[in-house]
Amino acid sequence: MTTRPTWLRTPAGTPRRISFGADYNPEQWPRDVWTEDVRLMQEAGVDVVSVGIFSWAHLQPAADRWTFGWLDDVLDLLHDGGIGVDLATATASPPPWLTTAHPEVLPVTRDGAVLTQGARQHWRPTSPVFRRYALALTEKLAQRYADHPALVAWHVNNELGCHNVHDYSDDAAAAFRAWLARRYGDVEALNHAWGTAFWSQRYGSFDEVLPPRRAASHPNPGQQLDFARFSSDALRDHLVAEREVLRRHTPDVPVTTNFMVMGETRGMDYASWASEVDLVANDHYVHPGPQARDELSFSASLTGGLAGGLPWFLMEHSTSAVNWQPVNVAKRPGEMARDSLAHVAHGADAVCFFQWRQSSAGAEKYHSGMVPHAGSRSRLFRDVVSLGRDLRALDAVAGSHRVTAPVAILFDWESWWASELDSHPTDRLRYRAEALDWWTALVDAGVRADVVPAGADLSPYAMVLAPVLHVVPQRLADRLDAYVRGGGHLVTTYFSGIVDDAERVWLGGYPGAFRDLLGIRVEEFGPLPDGETLPISTGGSGSVWSEPVDVIAADVEVLARYAAPGVLEGPAVTWRPVGRGSAAYVSTRLDAAGRGPVLAGLLERAGVVSELPEHLRGCVELTRRRGDGGDFWFLLSRSGETLDLGGVEGTVLLGGPDLAAGGVAVVRR
Ligand code: GLA
Repeated sequence: MTTRPTWLRTPAGTPRRISFGADYNPEQWPRDVWTEDVRLMQEAGVDVVSVGIFSWAHLQPAADRWTFGWLDDVLDLLHDGGIGVDLATATASPPPWLTTAHPEVLPVTRDGAVLTQGARQHWRPTSPVFRRYALALTEKLAQRYADHPALVAWHVNNELGCHNVHDYSDDAAAAFRAWLARRYGDVEALNHAWGTAFWSQRYGSFDEVLPPRRAASHPNPGQQLDFARFSSDALRDHLVAEREVLRRHTPDVPVTTNFMVMGETRGMDYASWASEVDLVANDHYVHPGPQARDELSFSASLTGGLAGGLPWFLMEHSTSAVNWQPVNVAKRPGEMARDSLAHVAHGADAVCFFQWRQSSAGAEKYHSGMVPHAGSRSRLFRDVVSLGRDLRALDAVAGSHRVTAPVAILFDWESWWASELDSHPTDRLRYRAEALDWWTALVDAGVRADVVPAGADLSPYAMVLAPVLHVVPQRLADRLDAYVRGGGHLVTTYFSGIVDDAERVWLGGYPGAFRDLLGIRVEEFGPLPDGETLPISTGGSGSVWSEPVDVIAADVEVLARYAAPGVLEGPAVTWRPVGRGSAAYVSTRLDAAGRGPVLAGLLERAGVVSELPEHLRGCVELTRRRGDGGDFWFLLSRSGETLDLGGVEGTVLLGGPDLAAGGVAVVRR
């Protein structure tokens, strides 16, 4: 068995460093600009660029015509400039000749509308015709550039599923049926899983099944959940198909694709994709708001979780504004560096941007780049150069792993999809927001956490927080039970443990899968109307959800109660010692004032204490990485004031001894 590379292919003896770069789209510019680009890249310390992402029409201008000459020149120029290339397979956006000849590759929405050419990513993940053309292009690129010295990695497609994850076309219908036949074997098993006895939905054969297209009322929830799974799998199959072509030609070149672990982007179950790439890469864009930077850290931590704690590649973020939010706020001075270093803090060994040179035409011309419209004589480019220098100060960090945190937050895509389905007790539940609020509360408490997929090894964690862990097959219930009995402290919340993996309710009282472990039983959910909150005895209040919780085991302790006389006065938060560990339950969506004290009590019972000196708790977020170069502490300021880092021993590599407001310090211990 050959071992796969886990990082960029560079000439033997090249020391590992934190890579720096961008998407580079030279086809948008005349050749004299290319020469200036390479010079400016050198000035900024850029060592890697992603090339060719949207180049299909320039590489294959017609079905039978190939034009690689310009790309040869670009790769040679970059190589001569000492810059490595993460070469894209260029399959993200099919050219007009292809969609004109084969309109049957275009995706179809739930309502039956065909998504036309003229933007990007207008292809069906399951189209055999698209697949044929995409693999032919991949093959040509692999053949031509396998031995090019600039090639450091392959970049499959681009942000798979950004616009086309849910396709309801006839190709999708056929592939969905085949996927279901593999999953269920016979149609009666599907009928049982989906509960088709309801509303006369029984299927006589797989041939009768369709994707959940626009229907008269709520589509079958089991069908919806399976379609979400299928859609994620279909794109993953495309990733694997391109990857296999690349591996045949270049077994020693790592293959990656850029995930989108950020915000509400939810269509791809990356937990099931991560093992298909040689190195995990992610794109992240900051969404403005009070939790913007916590969200960045949460996403970066989850990316690290997908990478199993190994270094990963930040493929894209923005130097300043994007162009696709309702209002595209520019980053303030310092924010670009802070965001970049926050990703490094969470395990990124490459800091890249979309894109190198801001476009002068096209839909993204108002999206920032490393070289803005103003040119290199600009504050932004000076900041880029300065960031390149900062990264050089962190070369010793490259290759280090994250140091496992005391707490894990479980993140589960299936629970995300299922908990927010229609026809539920409330449509106000937000899976990711609940998880993010626990993250914020942990950072407020000065406690490090790792966000990990539900399948991760939980044994190293003192505490596991599993918010809204809605889909719980028996094997997951068993794993969590074993974790607790073995000494782990599990905290779960409302709407957890409710359904099995067929989306069928665990009967006998909620939360069926965890009822016995938690020692509680709920007979009826109490979703709260907008604006209604219930005070909690330990402070703060709950919203969105409440429950009349019955304690059914003698050893359950009630840690907090609802304090709404005449409405609800029962247990709101419970805790139970089980085996060598414990199992706790939070039955409402706590506000910050409610979550802080509840979390403090749970951490204390789990024996988790902050690693930070007291005066820094909550004002900084701490992350840790460890490798041959040392044991590194990253301190990300969340404060508007300069902070004294007294009490944090070690050599300051960056940003100290006083930590600037909103800045980042890195200390080698
Ligand atoms: C995504 C894409 C890029 C670009 C950026 C803009 O991340 O991969 O091509 O469109 O968004 O933010």
